[in-house]
Amino acid sequence: MCKVCEDKTLSVYQSLVSMDDGNPFPNLVDRISNLLGSRGINELSEDDINELLNIMNGYKSKRCDWDRYAYLIPGKYTRNLVDDGNGSYNLLLLVWDKNSQSPIHDHSGSHCIMKVLEGTLTESRYEWPLKDDNKPMNLVSSTDLSKDKSVYIHADKIGLHRVSNNTDTLSVSLHLYTPPYQICQTFCETSGNMRASSKCPFYSVKGVPINSELEENDDNKCTIEKMLCKFKSKSLTKLLG
Ligand SMILES: [Fe+2]
Repeated sequence: MCKVCEDKTLSVYQSLVSMDDGNPFPNLVDRISNLLGSRGINELSEDDINELLNIMNGYKSKRCDWDRYAYLIPGKYTRNLVDDGNGSYNLLLLVWDKNSQSPIHDHSGSHCIMKVLEGTLTESRYEWPLKDDNKPMNLVSSTDLSKDKSVYIHADKIGLHRVSNNTDTLSVSLHLYTPPYQICQTFCETSGNMRASSKCPFYSVKGVPINSELEENDDNKCTIEKMLCKFKSKSLTKLLG
């Protein structure tokens, strides 16, 4: 390799290393941890909740910051644990394949702050159905959230909601739940009937896959990261000419 190419390679390498060093995502995770500590949001004031929203809003999302947590399963959405908050909260990164959606669900008394990291998601809120009413559920509101938008979902005022990716591209969101919950109730949109409570699974923990659906099919594993690696290597080839 000639001297010019060597210098060019070194400078590209250094810029990639400095990008990793300056990753603001761990800082976001730390700031949330510092604010919440082991208290949980039930003991926090409205000012604390606003501060959490400010922290979330202050972060401007880039895929390379958080792609190590982003596992995709085609046709579904995945829940990936970033931080367990020592039991007082959960910080999750959710990857939504195109045209995927959650069931209509409650939050089992947990507060939630949700921020869109990539793409666009729609949050639809529903009235709580009357018992044995057997009628379609009433939609209260439907809000499109674009990249970097955050929303606070109050544990007692949420009613029921659904999050959906109604687009033809991938979307990713960050969710802070406090106190953390593992079981929630889901509802049938057409009848309002409550389904059996089900456990909300994690697909990965701190970047390590733990779900058999990811482990069984290597093609599904870490698709975003693979796409990024391809992009990086293409960019590198382009830069090196
Ligand atoms: Fe939810």
